[in-house]
Amino acid sequence: MPSDNFIVTPWHVEGDIDYDKLIKRFGTEKITDQLISRIEKITKESHFMLRRGIFFCHRDMKRILDDYEKGKKFFLYTGRGPSGHTHIGHLVPWVFAKWLQDKFETNMYFQLTDDEKFFSKQNLTLEETKKFAYENALDFIALGFKPKNTKIIIDTENIQTLYPIAARIAKKINFSNTKAVFGFTNDTNIGMIFYTALQSAPCFIEDKPVLIPLGVDQDPHFRITRDVAPRIGKPKPAIIHNIMIPALQGPGGKMSASEENTTIYTTDTADVVKKKINKYAFSGGQQDIEEHRKKGGNPEIDVSFQYLRIFFEPDDKKLKQIYDDYKSGKMLTGELKGILIEKINKFLKSHQEKREKARDQIGNFLFENP
Ligand code: TRP
Repeated sequence: MPSDNFIVTPWHVEGDIDYDKLIKRFGTEKITDQLISRIEKITKESHFMLRRGIFFCHRDMKRILDDYEKGKKFFLYTGRGPSGHTHIGHLVPWVFAKWLQDKFETNMYFQLTDDEKFFSKQNLTLEETKKFAYENALDFIALGFKPKNTKIIIDTENIQTLYPIAARIAKKINFSNTKAVFGFTNDTNIGMIFYTALQSAPCFIEDKPVLIPLGVDQDPHFRITRDVAPRIGKPKPAIIHNIMIPALQGPGGKMSASEENTTIYTTDTADVVKKKINKYAFSGGQQDIEEHRKKGGNPEIDVSFQYLRIFFEPDDKKLKQIYDDYKSGKMLTGELKGILIEKINKFLKSHQEKREKARDQIGNFLFENP
């Protein structure tokens, strides 16, 4: 049962998240059917992540569309904190960003915050976070982005470009602001305290409004950016938020890239995927087959079903069939897991090939300091 008892911050997510309550807590706007129709009218396509509420709330999306319809373009920005290999949950906002980029014909910036993860993770060196930045960049490129309209920013490499923007932002944020938003204490290192200014910087890298597709845990940074924007003479960044992807072990908490068995990495082999899903994926099924046939399973809490819903089965008809069969008890947990394993491994086989090819292309994507 979801309750008020959950935590969502950029560095810590815990508990069973009630998304309607989170919308109130954060002060975002729910994505309504009306807004979805408006997006579909422009893009001439219905995206399953919108239809299914995977992207569920926003800030100023309507303003972005109003401007767009008047011929005023925007650009896209998202990012990743390279604390380890990419896992499948990270791909959700990136895949959606790619779709938005294609439909709205925008530029796209992808920030890899090697400094942030060095500041926030006790056990990681700057060399390690930087190495992961380049590894994560491969996953991003593998999704089909093109270097002509997509640039990858690595904080420690592109600081020359970011710093003058970050400085203007930092001057408008005081310590009590960030302390209130992130719960910093006297023990927090000052890299963390400054960091929001750096994550804000790409919002103003072009002289156009920005739209940021992201996991809702990142919203607090941009709440600060939005407060600051008018005070430095810039438009407030608009945001579209996706839900957190559950850990394999089940409802409560997002996947954490540092805990091996709670997540599927894009670098996992087919064998490892199979083992992880079979052994760890939280099941909404019954104790034994007899009871399952009688009572049926619960797809709402079943992690395998949720992965299909969130990412791996875009076809609504097929998803509904699985839902119905599982709920009625016709489909067993082992069968459901089998479907997911096959889907993930098919996706990863092609993703891993593209990921290797991306090693030769990465140079074309890296942002060059002017
Ligand atoms: N802080 C983010 C993370 O830990 C990385 C990030 C940087 C980001 N810029 C962003 C995420 C913009 C979303 C949008 O993963």
